[in-house]
Amino acid sequence: MPSVESEKTKVLNKFEKFKAEKDGLDVKDELEHFARIGWEAVDKTDLEHRLKWLGIFYRPVTPGKFMLRMRTPNGILTSQQLRVLAEIVQRYGTDGSADITTRQNIQLRGIRLEDIPDIFQQLHSANMTSMQSGMDNVRNITGSPVAGIDGDELIDTRQLVQQVQDMITNKGEGNYAFTNLPRKFNIAIEGGRDNSVHAEINDIAFVPAYKDGQLGFNVLVGGFFSAKRCAAAVPLNVWVTPNEDVVKLSRAILTVYRDKGLRANRQKSRLMWLIDELGIEKFRQLVEEELGTTLSAAAEKDEIDWEKRDRIGVYKQKQPGLNYVGLHIPVGRLQAEDMFDLSRLAEVYGSGEVRLTVEQNAIVPNIPDENLELFLAEPLLQKFAIAPQVLERALVSCTGAQFCNFALVETKSRALALAKELDAELQMSHPVRIHWTGCPNSCGQPQVADIGLMGTKVRKDGKTVEGVDLYMGGKVGKDARLGTCVQKGIPCEDLLPVLRNILIKDFGAKVK
Ligand code: HEM
Ligand code: SF4
Repeated sequence: MPSVESEKTKVLNKFEKFKAEKDGLDVKDELEHFARIGWEAVDKTDLEHRLKWLGIFYRPVTPGKFMLRMRTPNGILTSQQLRVLAEIVQRYGTDGSADITTRQNIQLRGIRLEDIPDIFQQLHSANMTSMQSGMDNVRNITGSPVAGIDGDELIDTRQLVQQVQDMITNKGEGNYAFTNLPRKFNIAIEGGRDNSVHAEINDIAFVPAYKDGQLGFNVLVGGFFSAKRCAAAVPLNVWVTPNEDVVKLSRAILTVYRDKGLRANRQKSRLMWLIDELGIEKFRQLVEEELGTTLSAAAEKDEIDWEKRDRIGVYKQKQPGLNYVGLHIPVGRLQAEDMFDLSRLAEVYGSGEVRLTVEQNAIVPNIPDENLELFLAEPLLQKFAIAPQVLERALVSCTGAQFCNFALVETKSRALALAKELDAELQMSHPVRIHWTGCPNSCGQPQVADIGLMGTKVRKDGKTVEGVDLYMGGKVGKDARLGTCVQKGIPCEDLLPVLRNILIKDFGAKVK
């Protein structure tokens, strides 16, 4: 008769099995060894899965050229950190580039495994980490990209985001307490009024709310996307003060999720499935038990009452005489020389800081009035515009077929080409947010877009061609809601007229 233990192992899915056999974080001590033996000789599960615990992604589309996903808390980098990242990708020539992601993060391309020990040294010296950024871990923690510089902000989230990251990753060294979650986990801490972080699509979202005249956060839980189900976050009916309580509550929720979360079926392992099973009241009770204190009930309303802002252009800061400038980075793609240049501009004209946004753009803060004119005349601003065309301005795209093995279509270059064509043909008074995602995994978040395009394969004239499913109705900012699929299987080659019609009919575009 099989032992209880082997019965238990049998029902575990393949991911739970390999996690139980060896924690993803364990490969941290094997990096020198991997570098010596070369990627071809690395155990398949270590190569394809466990390395993701350290942010190192084997890319089957470009074998031997890895992607390195950083952590960028609140999307903030110093110019020196950006230069280190630029140096890392520069050594790979045309294979090296970087993408700003929809979690306000940065992913480096072309990385060789033999260089990782060296690269991790560089990252460590520059106070950066890629720890626990992939697989069943807490992803980059987002916050308002104008935290601390926006005159209308309610709470400066920078320290809080850093503290939550430090708690989860043990200050970037790795923390076995949170390396075996049932699935991935997203946390956002919003300090402004425009829901810049898309609170509704995070597993935990802190949103500003006044209670008895005091400013703190209401807490939402369980928001997520997956190929099979998308759910907006629901209120936990909790209000916390904007201090270490945010860290403690995050830890308690993560602990309950780690210990009680559903693990049998990976399609049903995200936090919302556990909340569904327990009911929100029971879930809240377990969180309180974990904390050992009673939680304060949510404030009646939160302070998210603006439309979302994209922060592209020149804006006055709350500090008199200082400005922040949002640069449009087409589909988030950066080359090494762009990164060096951006870093230089931030040092020469600003305070040596660069910020990333979930729209895959960059902000240079702290530019004194007297530096503004020269800054705006810099050649880099021809490429990264402060007043881009309307559709290009709000375009977002996931990685797609160029690097991602899940992709059913090419995304970034196609997205950009189509947006440029439509911008040339049409006149629009306000941006229309078009999001591309290469497959149903939805990394490019088509459900939050005005027009979402999800890669798929389509039959046309007896042939299989690249196509998209069309999503509409996503709303961001206040009263955010998720869009849904309204039309399936449009061949990409027929997409231009379809989008043109939608833009004219539903978004008031006029032919030029
Ligand atoms: C089973 C489901 C999923 C799988 C297997 C998956 C896999 C991946 C992979 C392999 C990449 C890296 C591709 C590359 O850049 O080389 C990626 C990127 C990313 N994923 Fe997912 N993903 C899934 C679902 C999601 C969901 C639901 C979200 C959140 C909405 C998400 C957010 C992201 C983000 C922000 C990136 C960075 C890409 C960008 O912004 O350009 N992923 N994903
Ligand atoms: S949506 Fe699909 S194609 Fe795009 S990055 Fe995610 S897994 Fe890859």
